[in-house]
Amino acid sequence: MNRYDLSSVRDDFPILSRKIYDKYPLVYLDNAATTQKPRAVVEAMTEEYYNVNANVHRGVHFLSQRATDLHEGARETVRRFLGAASTEEIVFTRGTTESINLVATSMARLHSDDPAREVIVSALEHHSNIVSWQLAGFRLRVIPMSDDGELDLEALEGLFTEHTCLVSVTHVSNVLGVETPVERIIQTAHTHGVPVLVDGAQSAPHRRIDVEALDCDFFALSGHKMYGPTGIGVLYGKRAWLQQLPPYMGGGEMIRNVSFERLQVRSRHARLRRLDGTGARHRVYGRSGPGNHTHPRRGPHAVCRRTSLGNRRDAHLGPASGTSPARRRLLPSRSDSPP
Ligand SMILES: Cc1ncc(COP(=O)(O)O)c(C=O)c1O
Repeated sequence: MNRYDLSSVRDDFPILSRKIYDKYPLVYLDNAATTQKPRAVVEAMTEEYYNVNANVHRGVHFLSQRATDLHEGARETVRRFLGAASTEEIVFTRGTTESINLVATSMARLHSDDPAREVIVSALEHHSNIVSWQLAGFRLRVIPMSDDGELDLEALEGLFTEHTCLVSVTHVSNVLGVETPVERIIQTAHTHGVPVLVDGAQSAPHRRIDVEALDCDFFALSGHKMYGPTGIGVLYGKRAWLQQLPPYMGGGEMIRNVSFERLQVRSRHARLRRLDGTGARHRVYGRSGPGNHTHPRRGPHAVCRRTSLGNRRDAHLGPASGTSPARRRLLPSRSDSPP
């Protein structure tokens, strides 16, 4: 396919064949908000409902087993796409907003003994990366921006306090389109012993992501901005963090034992994966999501091909040297042991 063969690209997206106002061909330029769905995704969803629909992880019958395989296959697809070390680091959500809310709510629970808890964000953030923290009771400290849209990293140093629980920054601004220097922000935060969440809603659709190379602690993305079904997203979290964070949502799947008097939850990452739910949409992502469908500009499988799986470093999360005792409690131990 010629890169600029627009009619061929249009053919992949059934909605683009419709006329609007009864005469004009549809031109859709709102991909930063949500993308249109290629035929492969729509067909995979129909196929899913016609042939596989069942609860995952809950049944021993044929359909449930098949659905579970597809569900976990999708998790592996996403793991490869993000360059994560393990599928246990991949949590399915409804989008970037929910991914950020999960971390904000769980971090607030982890730091419930600190009413002065703070998060550092930048002046370039989407509302999801502001309001989620405010609702969870965090005070925001903001990395300022110059007139040409660059973040002032010298100012960042002065924003850390003993109450800083996390830095949460966008990778690519949804307003200006500029890429933020997340690598440097992550390095700086880690020297203060502070974890970093990267909002990848606008970067994941356009550039190669390697969470291990970035060394971010969390990475959030929206599948529906990447040709996936509406209402899907992903949270990547370093294993040690997912094990340490308290549950965000209650329900089935996370339970080891429950009565009306008492609840015992399963492994620490399983209780966060409660969010995976039982829906078909993420399973579809595994078959028709990033790497598995035709990327309009880069051709079939282009996103996946661009994801290197080699040279993974072991996840390393220990406290930075010189880390204060107050800060040290913010970081999971190297042994991944429960807090
Ligand atoms: C940078 C950024 N973060 C977060 C979001 C929220 O994404 P969603 O609505 O998929 O949760 C968006 C949506 O446009 C965004 O551009």
